[in-house]
Amino acid sequence: MYDVRSYKPSYPFDLIVEFARDLEVGVGKMNEVGGDLVEARVGRLPGIVLVRHPDLVKEVLVDRNADLTKARGLRLARVILGDGLLTSEVPVHTKQRKLILPAFHHSRLQSYGDTFVGRSVLEGDAWTEGERFDVAASMNRLALAIAGETLFGTDVLSQADAVSQAVHDAMAAFDAAQFPLADKLQWLPTHANRTSKRARASLDAVVYDMIEQRRHDLGDDLLSMLLEARDEDTGDGMTDLEVRDEAMTLLLAGHETTAVALAWTWALLAQHPEAEAALHHEVDALEGDPTFDDLRRLPVARQTFAEAMRLYPPAWTVGREAARDTTLGGHPVAKGTTVLFAPFHLHRDSRFWDEPEAFRPDRHVKGNGRHKFAYLPFSAGRRGCIGEQFAWSEATLVLATLARRWRLVLEGDVPDTQGSVTLRPASPLWMRAERRV
Ligand code: HEM
Repeated sequence: MYDVRSYKPSYPFDLIVEFARDLEVGVGKMNEVGGDLVEARVGRLPGIVLVRHPDLVKEVLVDRNADLTKARGLRLARVILGDGLLTSEVPVHTKQRKLILPAFHHSRLQSYGDTFVGRSVLEGDAWTEGERFDVAASMNRLALAIAGETLFGTDVLSQADAVSQAVHDAMAAFDAAQFPLADKLQWLPTHANRTSKRARASLDAVVYDMIEQRRHDLGDDLLSMLLEARDEDTGDGMTDLEVRDEAMTLLLAGHETTAVALAWTWALLAQHPEAEAALHHEVDALEGDPTFDDLRRLPVARQTFAEAMRLYPPAWTVGREAARDTTLGGHPVAKGTTVLFAPFHLHRDSRFWDEPEAFRPDRHVKGNGRHKFAYLPFSAGRRGCIGEQFAWSEATLVLATLARRWRLVLEGDVPDTQGSVTLRPASPLWMRAERRV
């Protein structure tokens, strides 16, 4: 039997205000209620359910997957992402996922290894000894350059400012989208609606430019693959709009998450000298810059990244919406209910983790016996992250390459979290670089 509880704000409409104003606070308050499943309702509006037990998370992602579609927040993300892998539903999703999967096969990842390392070297070369800089911005630039080069064979850095402003606008629009009626009101000229249209226009310019370049000069990158793909039954290719939606999704999903996770990793390393020393010991044993084949010699770098994502999972909350009446743990969940689980809270739950607030990379050694659904930075099931192995290889090689050459020291306090679509630092993450070699 699961422990099912209710969340009752002082005034019913507080729930709407809390979720609209600050999703992190809204989810946090529901989480504080405790138990395995927390339910909140406002009059006759569709309710919200927060799932707090790994068995029930498995039900959401695997067993009841067919009853639960992408939640309202992500449906609204369609304004920017269109109908790409992250936002589409069956049958489009199934077809597109099959088409895109080969870009993430091991042999492809291997061929991206030199870019992961080469771009890290370039980013490190731009740091100046002793000068303070915003590590979050630096990791964002690096991850964007890597996504552009590996997936699209393009140098997107010349447009990095436009992309990061647009991502910023897009996040603001996603936040505003948590308001329960937001999807019915997209036509209103509100600030959020105008911002998301502006974000779409500037990202469109970047992505259509990449498509145009590739149409004239096909390579062996993902974008060329999308342009060449043909439907097995009809033989039709994808329209520019379809290619645009997939490319936009991969460009955004493929850099923002990895970038924020890396930024938090540097902050945690600077606060934990033992973990930093263990990482230095490992990377100093390499003969030079790492290669893809060195990944198996870098367990500490990988575990460090894993532990950073436990404490600061980029996708800090994941949502679905009940497409029909269903159940979770035997408890009825009505059609229209928003179903959430929050890796941020699940990863810090003392029922499933010893000393949950401690930063201990070695808890991620293989065979640690933990519940598979208690650690979910990449979600799981059919809608789990397609880029998971890409991200593990990328982040491990970025950390190893940069940690060999540099040590980062905090300049001031670690910023609070800002839980938008990703868990970003709420203000710049100032650090100073000290050269190691
Ligand atoms: C540390 C880095 C990353 C994290 C933490 C992360 C996290 C996630 C999560 C939690 C989901 C599933 C959301 C859900 O269940 O609703 C997801 C989906 C997705 N991710 Fe990632 N991701 C990362 C890196 C990447 C990379 C590098 C790429 C591509 C290059 C990527 C592309 C995608 C796509 C396309 C989806 C949608 C998959 C689908 O619905 O079929 N992600 N990601």
